[in-house]
Amino acid sequence: MSETPRALLVDDAEIEYLTFERMLRRVTGPTRALDWARSYAEGLAAIARGGHDIYFVDIRLGPDSGLGLIREARRRGVLKPMIVLTGYGSDEVDRAATEAGANDYLVKGEFDHVLLERTIRYAERNARDLAELDRRLAESEAAARELTEQRERRALAEAELSEVLRRTVDEQESERQRVARELHDSFGQSLTLLQLGLDSVTRGLAAGTDIRQEIASLKDLTVRISEEVNHLAWELRPTALDDLGLQEAIRQVPAEWQSRCDLAFELHLALDRRLPPGVDSALYRVLQEAITNIVRHAAATRVGIILDSTPDGVRMIVEDDGCGFAADDAGRAEPPARRLGLLGIRERLSLVGGALEIESSPGRGTTLFARVPL
Ligand SMILES: Nc1ncnc2c1ncn2[C@@H]1O[C@H](COP(=O)(O)OP(=O)(O)OP(=O)(O)O)[C@@H](O)[C@H]1O
Ligand SMILES: [Mg+2]
Repeated sequence: MSETPRALLVDDAEIEYLTFERMLRRVTGPTRALDWARSYAEGLAAIARGGHDIYFVDIRLGPDSGLGLIREARRRGVLKPMIVLTGYGSDEVDRAATEAGANDYLVKGEFDHVLLERTIRYAERNARDLAELDRRLAESEAAARELTEQRERRALAEAELSEVLRRTVDEQESERQRVARELHDSFGQSLTLLQLGLDSVTRGLAAGTDIRQEIASLKDLTVRISEEVNHLAWELRPTALDDLGLQEAIRQVPAEWQSRCDLAFELHLALDRRLPPGVDSALYRVLQEAITNIVRHAAATRVGIILDSTPDGVRMIVEDDGCGFAADDAGRAEPPARRLGLLGIRERLSLVGGALEIESSPGRGTTLFARVPL
């Protein structure tokens, strides 16, 4: 059961109210009860109370403006149909009424109950459409706000994540440095002492004895362990990286690898400056992963390493003539996707603002391009 529809007329002349009321009664369709407000203030109070389905507002309300009243009602979120009553009609009145938020206007003395009925119908539809538009606008504004908030939350989470990653990487590097030094200095020194000890024991023994031979092979073993330890220390973190920088650390690469694999290295090192320590480490780890990959996957014979300056930073290229692999457009290795090597160096580079590109295709070798702007 719906209540009787109610209309409100805001007009400062009683005669207008009486005429309008009579005409409204003649409008076909559901009968509307008409309430009357005599002024801007009374009208606004009635509108604020609600309870009306449609409003008719005289364009002049004594000293006040009917359009001002409509504007205020719209500002307060009233979406019901509102029709302006004016003494004369013109394009200007039409524009002003629409701009204030009215759904239509009627010229006093120039409309009958038929035109009134049609105007009501049109205004109702127009108000419904506008309300729907309003609702959708509010919805999309809310969605846009939510999106912005989500973006901000995500950016924050990403920033925190990269901070955690940065710290982990820094700590990892200093830990590697500590262990490498420890291996190289203490362990290496002890092994050297062991070798010297074995030497002096050998000197006290007659040549050709079994025990002398035994000790000689123990010495060989110590030498090998010593080399292994040095290599391990170098792999963890070459001291040259900290003492002399990336370029010098790369110079040691062929010597360290050639005893372990059959790769011919070609180096083109033309860096004309010292890099910040973080960039040194990041590029060095890229190179380390690249060579490990070449040894493990590429079956290559040649490796080229280029390091040089670019107008905006530094560039390192590592290329091999091996079997290559299928990389997607972004240079990411296709399956197996859960590998961490290439992914890891991408992250390492992005921490120092750099980026990695990979060019590879089956049978055509692989090239890694690492760039860091400085
Ligand atoms: N130089 C290369 N030549 C041929 N294939 C390569 C080369 N580098 C990488 N690949 C291919 O790309 C894949 C991904 O490399 P990635 O370094 O990410 O992982 P991985 O070396 O297999 O494992 P890890 O996580 O231990 O590094 C490799 O499994 C290999 O198939
Ligand atoms: Mg790898």
